[in-house]
Amino acid sequence: MTELTQGTAWKTLKAHTEGLAHMRTLFESDTQRFDHMSTSACGLFLDYSKNRADKETMSLLFSVAEDAQLESKIKAMFNGEMINTTEKRAVLHTALRAKPEQEIMLNGVNIVQEVQETQQQMELFVDAVSSGNWKGYTGKKITDIVSIGIGGSFLGPKIVSQALRPYWSKQLNCHFVANVDASSIVEKLKPLNAETTLFIMSSKSFGTQETLTNTLSAKDWFIEQGGSQADVAKHFVAVTSNVAKATEFGIDADNIFPMWDWVGGRYSLWSAIGLPIALLIGMDNFRALLSGANEMDQHFANTPLSENMPVIMGLFSLLYGNFHDAQSHVVLTYDHYLRGLPAYFQQLDMESNGKSVTLDGTEVDHSTGPVIWGGEGTNGQHAYHQLLHQGTALIPADFIMPLQSHNPLGEHHVQLASNCFGQTQALMQGRSYEEALKELADSKLAADEKSVIAKHKVMQGNKPSNTILMDKLTPQTLGALIALYEHRTFVQGAIWQINSFDQWGVELGKTLGNDVLDRLSAENDATELDCSSNGLINMFRQKKI
Ligand code: F6P
Repeated sequence: MTELTQGTAWKTLKAHTEGLAHMRTLFESDTQRFDHMSTSACGLFLDYSKNRADKETMSLLFSVAEDAQLESKIKAMFNGEMINTTEKRAVLHTALRAKPEQEIMLNGVNIVQEVQETQQQMELFVDAVSSGNWKGYTGKKITDIVSIGIGGSFLGPKIVSQALRPYWSKQLNCHFVANVDASSIVEKLKPLNAETTLFIMSSKSFGTQETLTNTLSAKDWFIEQGGSQADVAKHFVAVTSNVAKATEFGIDADNIFPMWDWVGGRYSLWSAIGLPIALLIGMDNFRALLSGANEMDQHFANTPLSENMPVIMGLFSLLYGNFHDAQSHVVLTYDHYLRGLPAYFQQLDMESNGKSVTLDGTEVDHSTGPVIWGGEGTNGQHAYHQLLHQGTALIPADFIMPLQSHNPLGEHHVQLASNCFGQTQALMQGRSYEEALKELADSKLAADEKSVIAKHKVMQGNKPSNTILMDKLTPQTLGALIALYEHRTFVQGAIWQINSFDQWGVELGKTLGNDVLDRLSAENDATELDCSSNGLINMFRQKKI
């Protein structure tokens, strides 16, 4: 048993949630519900009134947070304490977006200075490439960037660049290669000209098989296209915390952008891992992205729990997972540019909170990180919303929408908004049997048929959602939004007392994968593993070309 679930607030909350009225009733009995269950911060507006909560629920949730010493854990992170206990590291992605004048001491060094120096290195590089002063091996300027990386070294740059498409400079195109499946890099390189292509190899560890393999293939392509080993320096740069291995790999020392072990891969887009973003939107807009995240950091660090946006969102996610047995959480971005955000939040949340022991190794006695999924609204309404409305699973939803479009065109945006708000309303209020029957009153169906169809049209409602709005999707508001979700993830992990910042679960697959790799290319068929693995390996051996 963990002390968390034995706490008074936790136990009281359990009993309380079982007896809470339907949200429909909560809205009917409190016409000010929207006013006192919404909050603003850093250019974002959060409507959390469509949640299974009343004032007592909120008070109990904040008590659970207080019992877990959440405020002191937030301070510990910002102060650089070694909260990633299994890797003996601080967790300071917040330092990546600190203001230049801020001081964050780690082992006696003000790390903000190092961050600023790397940003200056980034700015020089971005200016050189964007201005055309950076020339390829035949003297031509760079037209295409190929970013090679995976996980946090891919998702951040890719999804933030996609989200800020309206801010791209005209000069550059960017292509992202992550998967080791050769089809990815082959298709991406097919239309490119080696003379005007620059590769950014992003790998915090400089030891990720997919990224190393893709970079070697990129180098082979470059040579086949007419480049030489001597020209590599003009077309390959690296972002890594392992400078020695990058140099050994052949990346010119001047073309290596450092990062640090106190930045987790899934929290690294704010570092030089974000170089593709800065190349596409310019350094000023990249700094605006950082500034938005820094604003959310200040909000998170200095706002009382009851008005703290990441705390409120984190507590609701914990409420549904731990007290309503919700196994997943859906993120619905009612904005085409934000269509990749659910995938970004998947790694952020699931690689952070997909854990089952507390910091001291005790097995948890409650659920932890949910499955994060989602997609672009309104597309999802024609794919999986049926299950959200009438399925048996409770799936809390976040709806995210800018109030203004970058592309105002006729009725498009007002229709997008009508769908977004209509969906949250339908999830909350549902449709009763009586309402369904009434809708069928004028149909020509016989009475018994009306009764059956009406039963099929019933929607329980009471399906919770948060709605997050911003005036417009800008680098600043996007930075605040992503930082909001980073801290929302932190809140849950801190209360569950798990380590949200290591990822031992992905190590075993890599190790076993390397052993399988050897067996796939061995002289003889595999026989020592389980019969499934042996069978699969040997089938591949028979068919491989
Ligand atoms: O998935 C495991 C992981 O270590 C992620 O945390 C990380 O973002 C990704 O692999 C890539 O790691 P690297 O940046 O070291 O290549």
